[in-house]
Amino acid sequence: MEIIRRPHLMQQTALDLKRDRLKIAFVPTMGALHAGHLSLVRRANQMGQVTVVSIFVNPTQFGPSEDFEQYPRDLGRDVDQLKELDVDYVFAPDPADMFPGGSGTYLYNETMSNRFCGKSRPGHFRGVLTVVAKLFNLVRPDFAVFGQKDFQQAALIKRMVLDLNFLTEIVLCPTVRESDGLALSSRNIFLKPEERQAALVLHRALRGAEAMVADGEDDTEKLAEAMRETISGGPLVRLDYAEVADAATLEPLERLDRRAVALVAAGVGVTRLIDNTLLEPPEEKQ
Ligand code: PAF
Repeated sequence: MEIIRRPHLMQQTALDLKRDRLKIAFVPTMGALHAGHLSLVRRANQMGQVTVVSIFVNPTQFGPSEDFEQYPRDLGRDVDQLKELDVDYVFAPDPADMFPGGSGTYLYNETMSNRFCGKSRPGHFRGVLTVVAKLFNLVRPDFAVFGQKDFQQAALIKRMVLDLNFLTEIVLCPTVRESDGLALSSRNIFLKPEERQAALVLHRALRGAEAMVADGEDDTEKLAEAMRETISGGPLVRLDYAEVADAATLEPLERLDRRAVALVAAGVGVTRLIDNTLLEPPEEKQ
């Protein structure tokens, strides 16, 4: 496994691989790797002939009062885990090389960026889309693998690929959970034991919405309201949002008449957590 630090060397390596007609599968990460990330890497290994994983805590997707400085970083441990999975290249650039300053060029989506997490984290998705576009230009992936846990991010990236004609196929992998349902997240290490317990309310709210749909409920506001009640009723948790939206466009939905997604976000202690589940319209169920 080779570790590449400089963006231009990553780009040159990618162009050499493409010249040799090798298919590149790419997993962009911010490091602090957990079993969820490793499931993405395994999927990438199946899709491409060469697997590239980037580890870059992207400063442009954190707001001024957010946890950029505190975000967990452990490159040594990440690299050891990736070696075990036979990853070919780790791209771990310095922020100063990725964003030398004075550029002012950003990407954003005029409609999907400002909803849900975008509302609570202004500028977040602008930072995500910009860095993902840069990473795609440096790594030249045939496939890029993302987790369903960051559903809005994945929807925005799919849309960016469509709108700007990137030649990368976006592959989505299911959320990996602890045995009690908590979605894996690099930020879970910030949770104190009682907060970790309290955080389970997000998963419970989503399971509740799924159960209501199984019982025939198709009024999305009722589903959202039930999720809000569950989350607000939990201790140590501050509800940010609980909504149901069209899974492809993230547009609001009145009735569950197409594939939808239930999205939740809440603060638990100093940690902000998100989760989601897909909801199928009743008539499409088998
Ligand atoms: O999901 C993440 O870890 C990040 O948002 C990403 C896609 C690597 C961009 O910095």
